[in-house]
Amino acid sequence: MDTILILDFGSQTTQLISRRLREMGFHTNIIPGDAAFSPDLLGKEHIVRGLIFSGGPASVYEADAPQLDPAFLACGLPILGICYGLQRMTEDLGGKVQARETREYGRAGIKYLSNHPLFSGIPEGFISWMSHGDSLLELAPGFSMVAVSEHGMPACAAHPGKNIVGIQFHPEVTHCEYGNRILSNFAAGICQAKAEWKVEHYLLAAQESIRSRTQKRKVLLLISGGVDSTVLGALLVKTLECDQVYLMYVDTGLMRKNENEEVIKTLNSLGAKHIHVIHAEADFLTALAGKHEPEEKRRIIGDLFMQIQEREIQKLDLGDYLLAQGTLYTDMIESGKGIGKNAAVIKSHHNVRSPLVEAKRNAGLILEPLADLYKDEVRSLGIALGLPDSIVYRHPFPGPGLAVRILGDVTREKADLLREADAIFITELKNRDLYRKIWQAFAVLLPIRSVGVAGDARGYGYVLALRAITSADGMTADVYPFEMKDLLEISSLITNKLKAIGRVSYDISSKPPATIEWE
Ligand code: XMP
Repeated sequence: MDTILILDFGSQTTQLISRRLREMGFHTNIIPGDAAFSPDLLGKEHIVRGLIFSGGPASVYEADAPQLDPAFLACGLPILGICYGLQRMTEDLGGKVQARETREYGRAGIKYLSNHPLFSGIPEGFISWMSHGDSLLELAPGFSMVAVSEHGMPACAAHPGKNIVGIQFHPEVTHCEYGNRILSNFAAGICQAKAEWKVEHYLLAAQESIRSRTQKRKVLLLISGGVDSTVLGALLVKTLECDQVYLMYVDTGLMRKNENEEVIKTLNSLGAKHIHVIHAEADFLTALAGKHEPEEKRRIIGDLFMQIQEREIQKLDLGDYLLAQGTLYTDMIESGKGIGKNAAVIKSHHNVRSPLVEAKRNAGLILEPLADLYKDEVRSLGIALGLPDSIVYRHPFPGPGLAVRILGDVTREKADLLREADAIFITELKNRDLYRKIWQAFAVLLPIRSVGVAGDARGYGYVLALRAITSADGMTADVYPFEMKDLLEISSLITNKLKAIGRVSYDISSKPPATIEWE
């Protein structure tokens, strides 16, 4: 299959470049930016038709900035450099990069100085997305400036003879107009790559890799009931012998309403042979009692998961088992574990952080077949595996469950109250045909009470926040713009049915600056 090889210099959006290309049907491979060149990298099974050098947080003139093997520049394939990628190749080919007075962050209109096939069909003045302090001061010999930004800064430089082009902005982010068109102009137009990739290819490749990694060993998967672990469960059951696959579900008492029953039904329908359901509600609530701090709560839940897992695994005869996890790329990057090694830790998602997981990872006994997929791609994989829409299109749910939606300390009463409120909200979204238009919706119980009045009596109820967002992948999110009528009716339903809730508010924060979950 035709492939675009991406050299990763540490940008948080490297994987997005690959994902955008996959969306358009192009197969990609990502390797570290400082990898040594070898003709093998250009493909046996998959033929590399072009290279992309990603962005990255370093400055090319710093001593410890990631280097590029010059053989990549000399290999003769078309090259697209993005941000650091452009700066790296400029410096390496004899140009100059410097920190300039004008830094550019965010939107910037683009002005053409000459024609280039990278911008074929794209009108002048389109809005690009910049994120750089360094800029090109001098072009490398043989290069000419193709475009500048509205601030007069270099935006695109190219070497026509060598088929090398670099851009200062990020076509992979959704804020960049014509971003997909630029990437497809490169892949299809300049590289002449064929768009042959489909999720079914991913499925076959993942199955092959799971089988070869697993051999005859057993695989344990902790099922959370969410889309990711359920899709992974289906993938394992359909890939390995049913005797090899052990599915374990820990009931933390922090799940959504009726989730336990649905999870067990789903597991059965997957045709799995070994399903272990562990009732641990009391353990989790005891460990969380009196704990307020979000990261501490996440840590407690993560550790307890692992302790319970270890305790329960000992009861099974699993030998040198592999631990499978439904970790997605967004989980990895937000925990600072993406291919971009410099990604900051924003939240410690328990499924990538625990010492046991790290130990298993170091021992080569971790299986994370979804780790370079985004949520919508996992959904497509779920469909390809034959899972029903009701599971595949379920809104995402965080590993720590309702504990990160009960702000402050967690009690059983609060969990029960939030479960009910959340169920009313979600049921109403389904009744109003809004559920599938929203990427994720949920209720959050705030640690404050406010005064109210009901039937002439003074009330002092909890404040509940509703959150509903649209997103493509959870990395960024917009607030769902409800009709006011829907919000008013849902608020009344909640406060009428649940006396302990005195007030309902709607969270109107996008991500960034807010995260999707409140804790
Ligand atoms: P945030 O809140 O970081 O969430 O904007 C992005 C997406 O990730 C989900 N999320 C988690 N998923 N374990 C998970 O498996 C976690 O600890 C976790 N925390 C957040 C969140 O619900 C949203 O879909």
